[in-house]
Amino acid sequence: MRVLGIESSCDETGVALVDASGPGVPRLLGQALHSQIAMHQAYGGVVPELASRDHIRRVLPLLAEVLSQPGCTPADLDVVAYTRGPGLAGALLVGAGVACALGAALGKPVLGVHHLEGHLLSPFLSADAPVFPFVALLVSGGHTQLMRVDAVGSYELLGETIDDAAGEAFDKSAKLMGLGYPGGPALSRLAQDGDAQAFKLPRPLLHSGDLDFSFAGLKTAVLTQARKLGDDLEARKADLAASTQAAIVEVLVKKSLAALDATGLKRLVVAGGVGANRLLREQLDAACARRKVRVHYPELHLCTDNGAMIAMAAAMRLAAGAQEANAAYSFDVKPRWPLHEIVPPA
Ligand code: KG4
Ligand code: ZN
Repeated sequence: MRVLGIESSCDETGVALVDASGPGVPRLLGQALHSQIAMHQAYGGVVPELASRDHIRRVLPLLAEVLSQPGCTPADLDVVAYTRGPGLAGALLVGAGVACALGAALGKPVLGVHHLEGHLLSPFLSADAPVFPFVALLVSGGHTQLMRVDAVGSYELLGETIDDAAGEAFDKSAKLMGLGYPGGPALSRLAQDGDAQAFKLPRPLLHSGDLDFSFAGLKTAVLTQARKLGDDLEARKADLAASTQAAIVEVLVKKSLAALDATGLKRLVVAGGVGANRLLREQLDAACARRKVRVHYPELHLCTDNGAMIAMAAAMRLAAGAQEANAAYSFDVKPRWPLHEIVPPA
């Protein structure tokens, strides 16, 4: 069974094809991605209308590229999956519309996938695939959540951010340091040359006793510090970046360990854009090795948004008995859609 995945929830158009024939985890046959970052950079963030229009421009050429990689034609597709939500409504509609039109033209079923389920299951595409059950740390630009995952579709929310997401904390701090958009990768690069102890920044909710996060106060503290530095900011930027990154990472690591303690599980899966952060990986690896906990990450290029994770999530839902793929070709999108509300496949 060949499953096509189309991702268009935000500022990346991703298309990918997986082969889900036979036992074992599905295999990636082809993938292509267009990032709109350069286009949105001039505005300091994603402009939804520009995002939608660019998805329209990119999606069909990307589809042709993906099909050509394994030498397939549209007729070789068995299921067409797309990101149904959460995300920008107009951007989601492009992927959903194209997927349903393609399905209708080919007479093949379509399946709407939850974007965060895609992130969550993306480590299954890596050579060191996890096994259920596990604790998942989902850290993207829009979400920061800890989940208990017992099977495909069985997601119990353990804790989440009460305000900004971890990626947002990276991005907003980076923006006020003049590092552009999205600032997470740039801030983390700059932090390599800085002293993480240079500035004392808050670790919000670190000792709250629950598994929730809060990053809005940290961003304000970074802003206050930047203002205090004034003309010295330029010279101390690497130190401020390193201190900011250390604060975000410490909270993510400690709360992940607390979630492992609370559930008694010995496996952690990290997913979402911030999962690409090197310091986060180093600190989680070290802390988990001490506790004999296995940690799994998506491959670096699959941490941020992509089509492969959508094709993968669809294939895994179908393999788990999902009946949702349908040939009605009517669609809606769900810009707001909590992950723990989706139902198990059977
Ligand atoms: O998962 P993703 O591609 O998009 C959403 O679904 O939100 O995540 C994007 C987020 C951005 O906030 C970006 O700054 C952050 O992931 N990010 C990083 C790194 N790479 C991406 N944050 C810190 N360090 C990185 N290396
Ligand atoms: Zn994402």
